[in-house]
Amino acid sequence: MATANANLPQMKQAIFESHGEAETESLGAALAAVLPNGSVVALDGALGAGKTRLVQAIAAASGVDRQECVSPTFVLIHEYAGRRPIFHFDAYRLRDEDEFVELGAEEYFDRDGLVLIEWAERIERSLPNDRLEIRIRPLGATSRRFEFTAWGADYEQALDALARLPGITSPQ
Ligand SMILES: Nc1ncnc2c1ncn2[C@@H]1O[C@H](COP(=O)(O)OP(=O)(O)OP(=O)(O)O)[C@@H](O)[C@H]1O
Ligand SMILES: [Mg+2]
Repeated sequence: MATANANLPQMKQAIFESHGEAETESLGAALAAVLPNGSVVALDGALGAGKTRLVQAIAAASGVDRQECVSPTFVLIHEYAGRRPIFHFDAYRLRDEDEFVELGAEEYFDRDGLVLIEWAERIERSLPNDRLEIRIRPLGATSRRFEFTAWGADYEQALDALARLPGITSPQ
C-alpha cells in the first residue's frame, strides 16, 4: 500500500471473493446502496470475468428489469430506467479512445445516476480522476475475486460503507 502523501490523489482498496453468482448478486446490491448519484465505475477483467454479471446485479438492485440488462457489446451504451438512471458502457469494440470522445460519451460522466463501464482501461485517459475501479479475476468456474480501488473522497467513503458487507477485506 502507498503511504499517505499529500501530493498523491486519495486512494483506498478493498477485496471481495465471490463463491457463486448469489454472492455476486449481494455485492451488486451493496454497491447500488453505497454509490452516490453521479458515480462512475470502471470495470475491467478478461472476457467472461463477470463485468456484465455485476452490472446486472447493480441494475436489478436499482429496480431495473433483469431481462433488459444485457451485454452492450454491439452498442457503446445502454441506458436503463431504474430508481435512478443507469448508463452501461462497453468499450470493448471501440476503434480507439478518440471514438469514445467523438461519440460524446464523456457527457454521461456529468449525469445523475450511475455510469458503469466495461473494459474501462481502453478509455482510461477519458475517465474522470475520481472513480471506483473494479478489477475482476476468475478464481475458478464459479468463484471470482473483485478488487476495488477508490479514487477520490466520495469513492473512499463508498468503500468504507461497502466494508460492512460480510466478506469484504483489505489488501495485505
Ligand atoms: N461468482 C460469479 N460471479 C459472476 N459471474 C459468475 C460467477 N460464477 C460464474 N459466473 C459466470 O461467469 C460469466 C460472466 O460473464 P459476463 O458476461 O458477466 O463476463 P464479462 O466480464 O462481461 O465478459 P465480456 O468481456 O465478454 O463482456 C457468466 O456466465 C456468469 O454466469
Ligand atoms: Mg460483458
